[in-house]
Amino acid sequence: ETTQLKDIVAHAKEYGFVFQSSEIYDGLQAVYDYGPNGVELKNNLKRLWWEAMTQLHGNVVGIDAAIFMHPLTWKASGHIDGFNDPMVDNLDSKKRYRADVLLEEKAAEYENAGDPARGAALTAEMGRLLTENDLAGVRQLIIDEKILCPVSKTGNWTEVRQFNLMFSTQGSAVDSDAPPVYLRPETAQGIFVNFLNVQKSARMKIPFGIAQIGKAFRNEIVARQFIFRMREFEQMEMQFFVRPGTEMEWYQTWKASRRRFHEALGLPAAKLRFHDHDKLAHYANAAVDIEYEFPFGFKEIEGIHSRTDFDLGQHQALSRKKQQYFDNDIDEATGKPYGNYVPYVVETSVGADRLFLATLCQAYQEETITEGEGEAQQTKTRTLLRLHPAVAPVKAAIFPLVRKDGLPEKAEQIFNELRFDFRVVMEERDAIGKRYTRQDLIGTPFCIAVDHQTLEDDTVTVRHRDSREQTRMPISALRGYIGEAVSF
Ligand code: GAP
Repeated sequence: ETTQLKDIVAHAKEYGFVFQSSEIYDGLQAVYDYGPNGVELKNNLKRLWWEAMTQLHGNVVGIDAAIFMHPLTWKASGHIDGFNDPMVDNLDSKKRYRADVLLEEKAAEYENAGDPARGAALTAEMGRLLTENDLAGVRQLIIDEKILCPVSKTGNWTEVRQFNLMFSTQGSAVDSDAPPVYLRPETAQGIFVNFLNVQKSARMKIPFGIAQIGKAFRNEIVARQFIFRMREFEQMEMQFFVRPGTEMEWYQTWKASRRRFHEALGLPAAKLRFHDHDKLAHYANAAVDIEYEFPFGFKEIEGIHSRTDFDLGQHQALSRKKQQYFDNDIDEATGKPYGNYVPYVVETSVGADRLFLATLCQAYQEETITEGEGEAQQTKTRTLLRLHPAVAPVKAAIFPLVRKDGLPEKAEQIFNELRFDFRVVMEERDAIGKRYTRQDLIGTPFCIAVDHQTLEDDTVTVRHRDSREQTRMPISALRGYIGEAVSF
């Protein structure tokens, strides 16, 4: 039986991974909070990304830029003029939709009904109209295709409008004419405007990268599929600055490197694919998505873009500050240094929340197991999270077999030794089987049982989440054993 998104959503809530924001007030659409286990898992994902970027690559350094930026930043980046989605309202239900999504769904319908040519033609026509910003044409297409509102089942559509996805807020408390400040819709611009600060202060030589993890905000019209598309989310972006003309090599390098990262985290190769963009954003000369097969289909988790010198060039023009680098490497063609240029950029951009969702979907499993022997044998279903130990919220749970005979004290002693190196918990209550079940549900890779033999020879049993096998080992070996498993 295949896992559905609703199973994941229910599990995430029940076991403290993800809650709907402001749930007691019936929630805020497309905004979510991370619970005690969720924040640990998410922090682990962020830490691994950070280490992969800044520690495994000697030439990538990090920054942490502010969410608010000078309003001209977004003029330069193209977000004020171009970061729009075509929006259409249904007059009967008063529900708002993305015009392009309605048409895409119609195209998918043709495809599923065995007429892919008609689907492709519709997609192409929509692409043409949107490129020409022919919004009346887009509306006519919706009417011609007899697309009905999913809620009211009527075709009573308003005109199509471009809707800017940036959130804004009042910039100044004293000057009512001051322009609004925006909540950044991508973290990338904080890196671009700091390019020279970082290059000079960290004495970086091209090619080099700047990495950042931080919140981004988009007023998404279609907000569905849990934490896949949120209004407030977190990005992990890295801008890699290169000499013009070398960007395609770096694009290929980062494309391969980023895919390896996802595979190392436990997303299987068969559920990952590259999807080249047919239609390139205004800033890119090549772009690819890494897609993961979610329960709702293959969808983007990360984008890799060759952004040319678009961003630095724009910031140079609007700020009137040179965004150049002096390259004293020798150009073999001329025998002279490459000299001054505005660097090209290859960007890798992954959503922390999407990576979290992919990790959770991949880890979530319901399996049928057989327990006991002979007459007592029974089959049952077990739900578990097969998380990579490196990202699991809890690395080990320590269980005294019974709450007497000095076993809890012994367990506590082990707990106090391990807690300096790993996130461990101790549980004394309930039958041991129940305690194993609870840890399976949150993906704890190891359960350590302390029994009477422990008091005699200082050994414990380590029960493995995935195989349910148990290994007896000395307490002194635990740190090395767990440490090995949780390393990435
Ligand atoms: N700087 C380039 C950039 O922002 P993007 O493709 O718009 O590119 C990059 O976004 C990544 O950010 C996506 O692959 C996705 O993982 C994540 N992302 C974008 N919008 C999101 C949203 N509304 N909710 C959650 N994650 C989002």
